Amino acid sequence: MVSPHLKSMGSVVRFCLWPQMFDLKKVIKARKKLDLITSFLFKLFQINLRYKEKRKDYGIEIFEYFYLPWKTDEKFNQNYELIKNYTLNPKSRLFTLHDMSKRYLTENSSFVEVGCWKGGVSGLVALGSKNKDIDFFVCDTFSGVTNSSAKDSFFKDSEYNDASVNDVKEIEKIVGQKFNIVKGVFPGSMEKIKFTKPVSFAHVDVDTYISAKDSLKYLLANSIKGAVIVLDDYGGWFTDGVTKFGNELKLDKNLVVIPNHLGQLIIYKIK
Ligand SMILES: C[S@@+](CC[C@H](N)C(=O)[O-])C[C@H]1O[C@@H](n2cnc3c(N)ncnc32)[C@H](O)[C@@H]1O
Repeated sequence: MVSPHLKSMGSVVRFCLWPQMFDLKKVIKARKKLDLITSFLFKLFQINLRYKEKRKDYGIEIFEYFYLPWKTDEKFNQNYELIKNYTLNPKSRLFTLHDMSKRYLTENSSFVEVGCWKGGVSGLVALGSKNKDIDFFVCDTFSGVTNSSAKDSFFKDSEYNDASVNDVKEIEKIVGQKFNIVKGVFPGSMEKIKFTKPVSFAHVDVDTYISAKDSLKYLLANSIKGAVIVLDDYGGWFTDGVTKFGNELKLDKNLVVIPNHLGQLIIYKIK
């Protein structure tokens, strides 16, 4: 039923279907249609990739969520334009990192990115955190993914081996921020490096179970209470090792762990 308020809005409302959103029967019908469309889309994806999905807890879901703040955040979009050619991450995930770093990367602390690839994310965080006196530790093997194990169904090592220290140096120039560029397998690569400022915010984007687990262990030991770590690849179609590790983390009573359903697990250190 259309409310008296809507009726008073005249002809605009005659064409407006949104009051149906309040009718449960219509909502259920619409959801069934959406299910059909998404199942079809998922089949198309599999045909394109020549891969048949057998796991029951994977698929495409159109979440009934329509707020896309990255479309209108001007500062984010200005910064995004500067770094977009140096990251594999989609705009939605980049927005999370830009937005959260503004609050959780505290003054006079350290930011760590494990798995920086060409350095775009670290550049974006630097652009959003000017004048906070941050030490940046931007880490990668620069020879691709490592530590794949039986927990990772798809990664075999060496994927994404097309980034170099020079790419990250280009990003330093673009964003006007000096980084500590750490080359090697993290956290072993940090052996000779000492933080003078504790870690308050970090991004872990490493694709495999062991690399994610080792990175988290090291970062939690070197961060402040209240630190936030964003674990990428959680729930990714082909990063099941990281998803398994993320699910283990949910049981840790020292942490609050929340998936944002954009492919990131937000980890908040409470103890
Ligand atoms: C998907 S890419 C990262 C993408 C990047 N964060 C971006 O925004 O474009 C994964 C990266 O993790 C790196 N990597 C994986 N395991 C690592 C480890 N244990 N130590 C250092 N780098 C690692 C790989 O070399 C690769 O560059």
